[in-house]
Amino acid sequence: MRSDEKTLLRAIRGKSVERPPYWLMRQAGRYLPEYREIRTKVSDFFDLCFNPTLATEVTLQPIRRFGMDAAILFSDILVIPHALTQKVVFKEGEGPILDAIQDQSGLASLTLDGFIDRLAPVYEAVGMIKEELPLQTAFIGFAGAPWTVATYMVEGGGSRGFVKTQAWANGDPDGFQKLIDLLTQATILHLDAQIRGGVEVVQIFDSWAGILKDRDFARWVIAPTLAIVEAIKRAHPTIPIIGFPRGSGSQYLGYAQETGVDVLSLDQDLPLAFGRDSLQPIAAVQGNLDPVLLVAGGSALKTRVDEILAAFRQGRFIFNLGHGILPHTPPENVAQLGQLLDRAGRG
Ligand code: CP3
Repeated sequence: MRSDEKTLLRAIRGKSVERPPYWLMRQAGRYLPEYREIRTKVSDFFDLCFNPTLATEVTLQPIRRFGMDAAILFSDILVIPHALTQKVVFKEGEGPILDAIQDQSGLASLTLDGFIDRLAPVYEAVGMIKEELPLQTAFIGFAGAPWTVATYMVEGGGSRGFVKTQAWANGDPDGFQKLIDLLTQATILHLDAQIRGGVEVVQIFDSWAGILKDRDFARWVIAPTLAIVEAIKRAHPTIPIIGFPRGSGSQYLGYAQETGVDVLSLDQDLPLAFGRDSLQPIAAVQGNLDPVLLVAGGSALKTRVDEILAAFRQGRFIFNLGHGILPHTPPENVAQLGQLLDRAGRG
């Protein structure tokens, strides 16, 4: 089978498909007992991301169990700050902790020298996964968008108010621009290396795009994403790019028009009619099941899956969640979702 015939790639290109392809953000992870088993072998989460054998195994686990139409490389958006030499650790139950950088002197401590070498184990995993994937399964690579990665680098971890990042971006926009420019370059290098290793689609995760509005959204979300899209398209014109400006509401429209991404990943807050009428005509759409419904399962899940299919399946569409799978999701409900989508194909 030629790779452009995989269901996921056909759907992105607007070709006919028997049933909508699906994959799930965070489809490899703690909701799977076989993941938790592997996770006990390493203490720091990054030891999993930087061990090609374990990263390959974990990437393939959900594919073996459920047969999704795509595998996503098992890694994390925070490998970029790590490879720029910022210290990143994962504390059990607390999420990531970084040595925060908040100004020009913090910036001076980062470097692109050796960046690709420090990520070599990730690209080694890409090659190993490529060898082992079933022929019909598409392979997705990814990176965090500069804005979202910057929030972790500046806050020193996860955040609610993003006060430090907003203070830097507003108080010293030219200095903050240097951080965004560095991250833009790093992201291009990282996606390019994944594509050369064999990924067939890339997704740009901008999980915190939604906290920005208007001019700030244009400068810190759209502009760097456009620069990444242009560079990747220049080097790899046939590789589809999925953009995920989570939480950005009606700003999804300008994002789609101005960045030129091929696919928009829709969060669960976006009204279906807006997605169908305003976004799907200009890009393929992916999403937008609320991850909570995958925890619930049963008729609540079925009802919403039917609504999403009714809204989107006439156009270019990939079934997915609106955000990552929740750790307490019963694996049986993921199997139920696969069956619902199979039935949609026959019906
Ligand atoms: O989708 C996939 O299956 C691929 C793997 C993947 C992970 N993280 C694995 C992971 C992807 C695509 C990501 C992206 C990511 N990482 C994002 C963007 C998407 C989103 O969720 O908004 C963000 C913001 C991060 C940063 C990050 N990584 C945080 C905040 C945390 C801690 C919180 C948490 O969920 O545990 C992580 C850790 C992480 N990344 C885990 C996994 C499976 C859990 C680590 C563990 O098993 O201990």
